[in-house]
Amino acid sequence: MPNAYISGTGFFAPPRVVTNDDLRSIYGIDTNDEWIQQRSGIKERRFAAEGVSCSDLAVPASEQAIQRAGLQKTDIDMIVFCTLSPDQMFPGTGVYLQRKLGLCDAGRFIPCLDVRNQCSGFLYGLSTAVALIQNGSYRHVLLVGAEVHSSALDLTTRGRTVGVLFGDAAGAVVLSATHEDRGVRGTYLGADGRYADTLSMKIWNIGNRPFIPVDADGFGRIEPRSMYPQMDGRAVFKNAVERLLVVLGESLQKHNLAANDVDLFCFHQANLRINEYVRDQMNVPAEKVINNIERYGNTTAATLPSLLFEAEQSGRLRRGMKVVLAAFGAGFTWGCSVIDW
Ligand code: ACO
Repeated sequence: MPNAYISGTGFFAPPRVVTNDDLRSIYGIDTNDEWIQQRSGIKERRFAAEGVSCSDLAVPASEQAIQRAGLQKTDIDMIVFCTLSPDQMFPGTGVYLQRKLGLCDAGRFIPCLDVRNQCSGFLYGLSTAVALIQNGSYRHVLLVGAEVHSSALDLTTRGRTVGVLFGDAAGAVVLSATHEDRGVRGTYLGADGRYADTLSMKIWNIGNRPFIPVDADGFGRIEPRSMYPQMDGRAVFKNAVERLLVVLGESLQKHNLAANDVDLFCFHQANLRINEYVRDQMNVPAEKVINNIERYGNTTAATLPSLLFEAEQSGRLRRGMKVVLAAFGAGFTWGCSVIDW
């Protein structure tokens, strides 16, 4: 059985920087830099321009990952696309990426799978991609986490508790088969559907007839609450730290590892306070944890691949290192992955 390792990483964030002060001065939100930084660690985020969708951000990130893997686009055997902000409700975003990468023009009608697991989407996708490589189905899988949040946030004072936390970006990795003794050793996933409504966006209700209420002229009408994500922030915080500590502990134990055997931890970038709490509880020194939330905010499925890209670029992540990824998010869903880089 082959191992699956990450052969290339890529990242793309749209150029427009929106600082905490911009949220106040441009959008008129009653907030301030101090509140946002203290509560979340975020200083700025990126917002995509109008007309730019999730698959658009994914194209440069994917091309970079493929190039850094030393491959051609046509070498990719499958796309796994993780997002909670798909280009359309359906079809999935993977097929748009396939088309925009030129794979259809090249006659590469490879399978495309969308994963809808929010902040832990990348780890659910990773687990799937690794299994498909290990069972011999594919040699190179492109795994993407990408989000355009900015168009679906309530960027007014009404929505400030959620709106200030999120940003747009795309990260990508290529998973490749190898017979070397390296790669993704295990990914451990969990979910607790009792909290499905605690962090959610209910833009439509398919149980309604019709699924979106219509006005007298036949136009769909959505109340503002349903248009934007809703979150019980304190419940998210409490469950996030609890679940992350348990899944990290269990995952390390499965591989007979102590926290100080790990060279680099990459935690989902929801909130710096969550990550600092987890790091503190695990007695992990600060230099072993990489964060970038201060520059990008929470980019949901894109956070983990963005960290891997930045860690590789900066030399903090090198061949032979032991890396642990962990994430928690809406659903609630969570996961942890142990990797020999
Ligand atoms: N700017 C200024 N004031 C604000 C803002 C803002 N953006 N948002 C809320 N406030 C005010 C509230 O109105 C409230 O004022 P009041 O006391 O006069 O009523 C006060 O700040 C405290 O509000 P809370 O909602 O209680 O704020 P809290 O301290 O819980 O912090 C936060 C909110 C940052 C969301 C926190 O609950 C948290 O960190 N939760 C974790 C959830 C998270 O990180 N989610 C990210 C997405 S989910 C994921 O990826 C896992």
